[in-house]
Amino acid sequence: MVLITGASRGLGAASARLLAAEGAKLVLTSRTHAELDALANELHGKHGTAALALSVDLTQDSAADDAVKKTLAQFGHIDVLINSAGASQGGLFWEIADRVWQESFDLKVMGTIRMMRAVMPTMIAQKYGRIVNIVGNTGLQPSPRLLPGAAANAALLAVTRGLGEEAAPHGVVVNAVNPGPTRTERWTTLMNRLAQSSGRTIADVEKDYTSQIPLGKLGEPDDIAGLIVFMASDRAANMIGTSVTADGGWTKGIG
Ligand SMILES: NC(=O)c1ccc[n+]([C@@H]2O[C@H](COP(=O)([O-])OP(=O)(O)OC[C@H]3O[C@@H](n4cnc5c(N)ncnc54)[C@H](OP(=O)(O)O)[C@@H]3O)[C@@H](O)[C@H]2O)c1
Repeated sequence: MVLITGASRGLGAASARLLAAEGAKLVLTSRTHAELDALANELHGKHGTAALALSVDLTQDSAADDAVKKTLAQFGHIDVLINSAGASQGGLFWEIADRVWQESFDLKVMGTIRMMRAVMPTMIAQKYGRIVNIVGNTGLQPSPRLLPGAAANAALLAVTRGLGEEAAPHGVVVNAVNPGPTRTERWTTLMNRLAQSSGRTIADVEKDYTSQIPLGKLGEPDDIAGLIVFMASDRAANMIGTSVTADGGWTKGIG
């Protein structure tokens, strides 16, 4: 049974589609119930998937605990948690308001932390769990115009590493996936805003990024979903507190 945050679109929805094709039962969460319901219906129609759609605003203190309680009431256990909710904005550092930093941390960092804290007792009790945090390559290689997301990503890589060590003896495996620029709604919104604030075209702004990617193009959600599903599976059972980057070769380090 797999609980996915940020499941209504983008990387969360792509992962849900792949997992459903492999026969997983799913709980799909985000704020927008209509999109989750449509996805749940699509997956039921195509694969007969048992999928529960839950409206959850992860910036609310009790939202993660509520989502886990409702999931346990419906399915009785949670094997896998995929944290894919996030929406950091970018810009020129000295023009980015406190609110933008705060929102990035409230949703991505605190939302992920609250979800992991909420599932940990049940995963420890059953001596089994898989947690995959969708983080981002800017946590390893901060891009100057994407710093609120980069800082949130670096924080999550630290938590993933430390918690991975704490959870492993209990049979709970915690890891992360670092996508590079990937064509989802989040990326399109980010490019629109950077274009507006700099007075350039969206194509020009996007080229700043694709020109740094050896593969020469953005990733597609399905490319990343395949890696997420692998990291959520027992095939990744010997990987602890680590992250795997899929960014077309953008990140330059070897660490
Ligand atoms: N796409 C990229 O290029 C890229 C690169 C690196 C890292 N990432 C990371 O990958 C993750 C997924 O990104 P994506 O590209 O799939 O983004 P996306 O297409 O914008 O999807 C984001 C998801 O988060 C949900 N969400 C937003 N605010 C929420 C809230 N307050 N509470 C609960 N759910 C909320 C959205 O649904 P609702 O609006 O319905 O709530 C949506 O399902 C993010 O953490 C992002 O930073 C993406």
